[in-house]
Amino acid sequence: EKGGYDYFMLKEIAEQPKAVADTLLGRIDAAGSLLLDEVRIPASVLREVDKVVIVACGTAFHAGMIAKYAIEHWTRIPCETELASEFRYRDPILDPRTLVIAISQSGETMDTLMALRHAREQGAKVLAICNTNGSTIPRESDAVLYTHAGPEVAVASTKAFLTQLVACYLVALYLGQVRGTKWGDEIHSVIRELSEIGTQVEQVLETMEPVRELARSLADKNTVLFLGRHVGYPVALEGALKLKELAYMHAEGFAAGELKHGPIALIEDDVPVVIVVPSPRGRSVLHDKIVSNIQEIRARGARTIVIAERGDEVVIPYADHLIEIPATPTLLQPLVATVPLQVFACELATARGNEVDQPRNLAKSVTVE
Ligand code: F6R
Repeated sequence: EKGGYDYFMLKEIAEQPKAVADTLLGRIDAAGSLLLDEVRIPASVLREVDKVVIVACGTAFHAGMIAKYAIEHWTRIPCETELASEFRYRDPILDPRTLVIAISQSGETMDTLMALRHAREQGAKVLAICNTNGSTIPRESDAVLYTHAGPEVAVASTKAFLTQLVACYLVALYLGQVRGTKWGDEIHSVIRELSEIGTQVEQVLETMEPVRELARSLADKNTVLFLGRHVGYPVALEGALKLKELAYMHAEGFAAGELKHGPIALIEDDVPVVIVVPSPRGRSVLHDKIVSNIQEIRARGARTIVIAERGDEVVIPYADHLIEIPATPTLLQPLVATVPLQVFACELATARGNEVDQPRNLAKSVTVE
C-alpha cells in the first residue's frame, strides 16, 4: 500500500510531480488559456467580484496566504486570507459581490465549514478548493475546484498543499483571464511555466539526500527558526508547522522583515535558521533585503540553512548549508521551495524516533470546532 516506501508521507512527497500534473489536467487548452467551466460561477458574476476572502486552517491556510499574493497581483481585486476558526466571530463584511474561497483537503474541517456557512448566509458566493470528492465542504459550496491529488493518508499534509497551491494559481489566473487585466502577457507566460512545474518538483526531489543528512545532524536541537519574505513567508510558516507536527520541536516561522522587531533576540550560537530566498531576478529589492537579514543573523552566530534559486551566487558566502531549487516565476516559487522543508521535517521526525504518519495528538481531519 505504501508502494515500497517506509511511510505514507514519503510516498506522498514523491507523488507530488504527478499530483500537480493531475490538478492541471484538462484545465489548460492548447492555446494556453484556462478552461475552468467546471467552476460553475458564470464569468458575468466573476467580473462583478469586488473582494476575495479565503478561509482555511493549518496547511490549507498557508496555501491561502500564498493565493492572496497571486490574486491581488494578477487580478487587482483586494483579497484577504483568514483563519477559518477566527472568521465568523469578527462579523466579517460580506455581500453578493464577495467571492469566498474555502480551501480544505478533507472537505470535512468543521472550522472551515462553519466559516463558509456564515459567508453564504451573508449572500457571498463560495468556491471550495478541495481534495475529497463529495465531501461536506464542496457539497455546501456554490462551486468546487477539485485538487485531484489522490488520497492523502499521512496526517501531515504534503501533496494536498502543493495541489491546493496549483488550484489557487488556476483560480487567480482564471479571474485575471475573465476580467482581462493588464497582466495578460504575464498570465500567459505563467500558465506555460505552471504547466511544466511538475518537472521542477521532480528535480527538487532528486537532490534531497543532503537535506536528509542535514536533518539527521540536527536531531538533538531544541529550536529551528524559519524566515521568508513575500510568498516565502507562508512557506516559512509551513516549514515550521511541518516540523512542529512531525518532530515535536519548537519551530517558528517569521516574515524576515519582522526580525529586528523582536525575533532577532532568539538568535544565539548555532541555532538553525532556515531562510527562503526569493529569486534574484525580478524582485531584486526583496532579494537584497533578505541577503542582509541572512548577514545579520549569521553575525549573531546562527547556523544558516539557505533555500535559494540555483545560480544565486550572492547568498553562497552566507550559507552554512545551501539548498538549491530550480528557477520559477516569483509567485510560483512555493511549489519548489516547500518540498525540501517537507523532506527535512520527515527525516528529523524519523531521526527522533517519532511516528511519521500518525503524529501524537493529531487527527487527519478535524471535525469539531
Ligand atoms: C498540516 C495539516 C493540518 C491541515 C488542517 C486543515 O500538515 O494537515 O494543518 O492542513 O487541519 O485540514 P483540511 O485541509 O482537511 O481542511
